Amino acid sequence: MQEETISWNARLYDEQHHFVSDFGQDLVALLAPAAGEKILDAGCGTGTLASEIASRGATVSGIDLSPAMIEKAKAAYPGISFQVADLTDFDLGRTFDAVFSNATLHWVRPPEAALLCIHKHLVPGGRFVLEMGGYRNVAHIIEAIMHALDDAGYSAEARRPGSWYFPSVAQYTLLLEQQGFEVQLVHYFERPTRLNGLDGMAKWIEMFGLYLFEGIDGAAVEELIQAAVEKLRPTHFKDGQWWADYRRLRIKAKKLA
Ligand code: BEZ
Repeated sequence: MQEETISWNARLYDEQHHFVSDFGQDLVALLAPAAGEKILDAGCGTGTLASEIASRGATVSGIDLSPAMIEKAKAAYPGISFQVADLTDFDLGRTFDAVFSNATLHWVRPPEAALLCIHKHLVPGGRFVLEMGGYRNVAHIIEAIMHALDDAGYSAEARRPGSWYFPSVAQYTLLLEQQGFEVQLVHYFERPTRLNGLDGMAKWIEMFGLYLFEGIDGAAVEELIQAAVEKLRPTHFKDGQWWADYRRLRIKAKKLA
């Protein structure tokens, strides 16, 4: 089983990205970029995988919602075109032989809007290669947070995560087909992800899950996070390491001609 390591210290961001991009190498292999191809990296972050794809001789463009990420990408890889764009609403005015997306689409809603834009930017027959969090990704972490909220008398039901989007194979392949793609390969798999440090789980929740505590004041949020962490300790803290229950959805699809 594959494992992934993430460091949550912002100063170590590039090292974290290095680990993420190591796993992205498999996805680049699935994309199989060829020299001379035009490829769009949708959700390129700081550009590591865009640069990897460009190293195969493809002409790469990268887009990301985060201006800070795009700034870093431009500084690191001046030979590649990067721009800030919203995946649900972008028009680059040109088409690509392939669209690549790693660890981004679970942040993007509505998914239909993103697929429509991606479809529009592909040539007929163009390929779309993606990996994202799949069905029940980090489900135990979400459940622990919901129970902590319940125990403390907050309406956990009203806080069901609306932001992350972790579709099942059936849901996402149907969406792709409805948007005019032919699905060629699907892989749904577990990838336990190691979180650095003895406070790795608390840091992960602080970094990614704060929206689940909206409207609750800071001190109470800290207590709720600690309560969730203690619920997870028996199952997610092993041999001195915290682990997150990541599940990936990896797909290769083709735009119907
Ligand atoms: C993920 O890569 O699966 C992920 C990252 C942060 C929050 C939720 C999911």
